[in-house]
Amino acid sequence: MTDNREILLSVKNMDVCFGKRNNRFKAVNNVSFDIYKGETFGLVGESGSGKTTIGRAIIRINPTTAGDVIFKGEKINGKISKQLDRQVTRQIQMIFQDPMASLNERAKVDYIISEGLFSGERISEAERKQKVEKALAEVGLLPEFASRFPHEFSGGQRQRIGVARALIMQPEFIIADEPISALDVSIRAQVLNLLSELQKERGLTYLFISHDLSVMRFICDRIAVIHKGVLVELAETEKLFAHPLHPYTRALLSAIPLPDPAREKNKKLEVYDPAQHDYTVDKPQWIEIEEGHMVWGNSKEIDQYRKILNA
Ligand SMILES: Nc1ncnc2c1ncn2[C@@H]1O[C@H](COP(=O)(O)OP(=O)(O)O)[C@@H](O)[C@H]1O
Ligand SMILES: [Mg+2]
Repeated sequence: MTDNREILLSVKNMDVCFGKRNNRFKAVNNVSFDIYKGETFGLVGESGSGKTTIGRAIIRINPTTAGDVIFKGEKINGKISKQLDRQVTRQIQMIFQDPMASLNERAKVDYIISEGLFSGERISEAERKQKVEKALAEVGLLPEFASRFPHEFSGGQRQRIGVARALIMQPEFIIADEPISALDVSIRAQVLNLLSELQKERGLTYLFISHDLSVMRFICDRIAVIHKGVLVELAETEKLFAHPLHPYTRALLSAIPLPDPAREKNKKLEVYDPAQHDYTVDKPQWIEIEEGHMVWGNSKEIDQYRKILNA
């Protein structure tokens, strides 16, 4: 299905390191992927695998230490012009697990939602108020909520405020970093539905970060799997579920609960042991093993994966 879909964002051989010279730690290691305009691209992996770091590198909070981030054909990592920086700051927005946990509890919702607008060209107070009201309405919240404080809201409402805060910038691309992980199970679907309605209405593109593959199956067009800073597999969602190749992907999939209780009780969990890879001589590469299906492996492993696919 690699037709003439337009690429909105390309990450090419990106590294992100933390720490100083003697104590350097590569949190993101040679990561490459493309995101098509209008799709929901999933990034899944266990806690600490580098998902948030990738999102923060794209929005220029974390500096990259190698590679390129290309947005709409322009390189946006590293040193860029003020004008491009301002453009990227508007067009790419990030939604966090709990957008308000990290914010000043003394700021009113009105301020929280419109904070991003202060960095752009000046707008009148009336225009700002009107934009806040519109953003609140778009996420299904009442206009009077603008004068309230974060602690007055439930988790689901707080996440709607986080979405409004992103929408007010009229972005093209939204990085949703575990947007429902902190929410009660009963309201998760509402927030997911809101995100997909907004996507339809506005042709938004999402990078959806999660550690929960069952949620991602429902919402993502394609999924990339990350393990300790390295992408190990990438495919269209149903292809990944039907033909997982990398043992880490298989382990993640085997951990998803099955709807049938009898099968769930008897199922065998696959455990991933990174020691199974011998990369001392035969080095791994990021290979397109079939159209649109990427996997990380050395030549011996790739041969095995080809056999699995052809079986
Ligand atoms: N600012 C930072 N300084 C140092 N280490 C960091 C920083 N941010 C993240 N890390 C480390 O990078 C790794 C990846 O973190 P993160 O991207 O938050 O993972 P995830 O979002 O997949 O849970 C972790 O080991 C984390 O401790
Ligand atoms: Mg994270």
